[in-house]
Amino acid sequence: MIKRTLIVIAVVVAILGLSALTASAAPTFVGAEKCKMCHKLQYDSWGQTKHAKATENAKASTKMKFEAACLTCHATNKDEAMAGVQCEACHGAGSDFKGLSVMKDLAKAKAAGLVIPTQTTCDGCHDGNDHHKKMVFTKDVHAHKAPTP
Ligand code: HEC
Ligand code: HEC
Ligand code: HEC
Ligand code: HEC
Repeated sequence: MIKRTLIVIAVVVAILGLSALTASAAPTFVGAEKCKMCHKLQYDSWGQTKHAKATENAKASTKMKFEAACLTCHATNKDEAMAGVQCEACHGAGSDFKGLSVMKDLAKAKAAGLVIPTQTTCDGCHDGNDHHKKMVFTKDVHAHKAPTP
């Protein structure tokens, strides 16, 4: 009897431990194409910005030699496969907030990792060192708004 109770306790502890692990797993990057589905306006205007071309521009530089370290700022999540400064470089990794039921509720989305960018977000890459000049935060510097005719 005691043995059986111990086994039950062990199983319960194992299950709780597992779910705690899954719940605390960090959100992952899904890529701009996934955001495009619902945010075509923002996607299309972002595509016109230098952020979208940051990886190819760094690679094409004649002034500086391209190396993996450039990707810290010239790609999303330091990953060449995630070329450009994509949505999630500013808005946070999207795996946990990209679902409609989470996205339509700002509080839930933020709890799931959505970042509403501030000056600090820009400072992460525009740190004022070397060629990485400081950028003053503005809400529509990335032309997320519909272009004025
Ligand atoms: C299934 C549709 C869907 C997907 C996919 C999606 N979103 Fe959203 N998103 C919404 C909806 C709906 C809202 C709330 C209404 C609105 O502002 O358009 C929203 C709001 C937002 C907001 C504004 C929050 C606020 O209120 O200021 C940001 C920023 C955002 N999404 C970023 C992203 C990013 C980045 C991705 C990709 C990782 C993404 N979304 C993927 C549907 C989606
Ligand atoms: C700490 C972040 C960071 C790192 C690391 C970084 N860059 Fe940049 N880079 C920036 C920012 C921010 C800008 C935009 C500056 C502006 O327009 O004021 C930029 C702009 C550029 C530009 C376009 C403007 C210019 O100066 O010609 C090129 C090309 C470039 N970087 C290449 C590189 C290369 C190559 C590397 C690696 C050797 C690199 N960068 C590393 C942040 C970084
Ligand atoms: C360089 C940083 C940056 C990148 C990259 C970026 N955004 Fe934004 N985004 C912002 C800022 C800043 C705001 C304005 C936040 C505020 O209202 O305070 C914003 C606002 C938004 C909003 C709210 C509605 C609006 O249009 O203002 C949505 C939705 C959004 N972004 C989606 C996206 C998607 C989708 C992508 C990629 C295709 C993307 N963003 C790329 C910085 C960025
Ligand atoms: C993940 C790193 C990263 C973040 C975060 C980031 N940027 Fe950038 N930004 C870059 C890089 C890299 C470039 C240079 C792209 C190129 O020229 O190829 C750039 C270019 C720019 C440019 C174009 C400059 C030009 O010469 O035309 C502006 C404007 C800008 N960023 C503003 C911002 C603002 C405002 C924020 C915060 C809301 C921000 N960025 C967040 C990396 C970043």
